[in-house]
Amino acid sequence: MSILITGGTVVTASGRHAADVLVEGETITALFAPGRAPDVPGARIVDATGKYVIPGGVDAHTHMELPFGGTFASDTFESGTRAAAFGGTTTIVDFAVQRSGENVHDGLAAWHAKAEGNCHIDYAFHMIIGGVDDESLKAMDTLVDAEGISSFKLFMAYPGVFYSDDGQILRAMQKARDNGSMIMMHAENGIAIDVLIGQALTRGETDPVHHGLTRPAELEAEATRRAISLAQVAGDTPLYIVHLSASQALEAVAQARDTGRNVFAETCPQYLYLTLEDQLGAPGFEGAKWVCSTPLRSRHEPHQRDLWRGLRSNDLAIVSTDHCPFCFKDQKELGLGDFSKIPNGIGGVEHRVDLLYQGVVDGKLSLERWVETIATTPARMFGLYPRKGVIAPGADADIVVYDPSGRTTISVHTHHMNMDHSAYEGFEIAGKVDTVISRGSVLLSGGEYHGRKGHGRYLRRGLSSYLV
Ligand code: URP
Ligand code: ZN
Ligand code: ZN
Repeated sequence: MSILITGGTVVTASGRHAADVLVEGETITALFAPGRAPDVPGARIVDATGKYVIPGGVDAHTHMELPFGGTFASDTFESGTRAAAFGGTTTIVDFAVQRSGENVHDGLAAWHAKAEGNCHIDYAFHMIIGGVDDESLKAMDTLVDAEGISSFKLFMAYPGVFYSDDGQILRAMQKARDNGSMIMMHAENGIAIDVLIGQALTRGETDPVHHGLTRPAELEAEATRRAISLAQVAGDTPLYIVHLSASQALEAVAQARDTGRNVFAETCPQYLYLTLEDQLGAPGFEGAKWVCSTPLRSRHEPHQRDLWRGLRSNDLAIVSTDHCPFCFKDQKELGLGDFSKIPNGIGGVEHRVDLLYQGVVDGKLSLERWVETIATTPARMFGLYPRKGVIAPGADADIVVYDPSGRTTISVHTHHMNMDHSAYEGFEIAGKVDTVISRGSVLLSGGEYHGRKGHGRYLRRGLSSYLV
C-alpha cells in the first residue's frame, strides 16, 4: 500500500521545507516539491496542509511492567505502546532487567516474552545490569554482538536492589569501552540518600514530599561527576546520564562536554514542567503520584530554566519520558505512612511529543530542535539511525502529522495509559497529534485508532552513531 502525504511542512533536525512525502510499503521512498509527485495509483492521500510532517517520536527510556517496590509498572507492552502511538511516538527503547544473582540472558528472554506479539509500535531494549560480575560482564559482549543491545544501564542509587559500587561501575565501563557500547547511568548517591531517608523517617517525616527532600540536587551532581570521572578512567567510555533533573548535574555534564568527552544526558518532561512544591508537595498523600527518581526539583531554584537552556545548547541531547506508571490505588498507596515505600515512577509515554511542542510554542525550543530531541538524536544515540528518526528516502515510514492549530488537553479521562491518574492533569497544549504512521501503517487518523498489537517489531540496534 502507498501513502502520499501532501501539502505539509516537513520538519527535520536540520531544517523545514514544504514537501510531499511518498510512502511505499513500510518505507519512505521519495520527497517531492509540493504538487510534483507523480500519480501513484491506489495511494492513500493524507492531507497535511497547514501541518508539520515530522519523524515518529523515539522514546529512549521506558519501563513497561518494571518490577519495583513489590509491584509492577502498570502499563504492559500492549497498553503502553498503544498509548505511545496515540501521542506520536512510534519507537520505544525499554529496559530489560538483570538483577544481582540473575542471569543476563534469562532477564533478556523474560523481556522478549513480555513484548513479543504485544507491541503496537517498534521496540528495542537497553539492558539493566543490576549485578556486575564476571558472568554479566561477559554477557554484555554477547548482547552487543548478537542481540542488538548496545547500551547498559547501571545504578548508583537503590542499594540492595539495582545498585552498583564504584568498582563494579568501573569494570562495566571498561567492558563497554572494549565492545563499543554505551553506559547509561542513574546518577544519585544512593548510599548517602538511604542515610537521609532513615533519618527523615526517624523524625516522623513520612509524607511524599520527603522523597524529594532526601534526594538533594547535590547528591545527583556528586554522582554525575563521579560517573564522568569513572568513565574517563575507563578510557573515555561513552556515558549517558539518564533522567537528569538538577542544574548542578547539568553543569557537570556541560563541563565534560566542553572538553570533548563522549558524555551525554537526557531530561524528561516531568523535570521541565513539574516541581517539588506544586506536585510532590501536594497535601496529604496526593504527592505520591509524582514520586520518581531523580525527584522533582524545587521551583525556588533555577533547575527548569537551566534544563530548557541545556536542551537548546545540546548539553541535554534527548528528552525521554522514563515512563514508569503506577496506579495511585493499591500501588502508590503501598507507601502510605512511609514515603520510601512508594514505587518510584511517573507515566508519560503518551505526552512527550505534545509537552515538548509546548516548549516550541513558548519560545523555548525551535521546531527543528523539538524534532531533534524527541526523535532524531535518540535514534542516532542508540543505533537506530537512519532507519528511525528522520524523514528521508530509505527510512522506515514512521511519520507524525502534527497540527499546530489543534489543542490537546491532558487528562486521566482521555489518556490511554493504564493509570488511574495523570501526572499532567489539566495541562493544555497548543498543538495536536493528527496522524500517526508506523512502518507504512496508519495507526491514528481523524481521532480514530487503527493500530493493533503485534504490528510492532523488535529492533536490533547497532552501536551509537552520535559519538564524537
Ligand atoms: O522513578 C523512576 N525513575 N523509576 C523508574 C526506574 C528508574 O530509575 O529509571
Ligand atoms: Zn533510573
Ligand atoms: Zn528509568
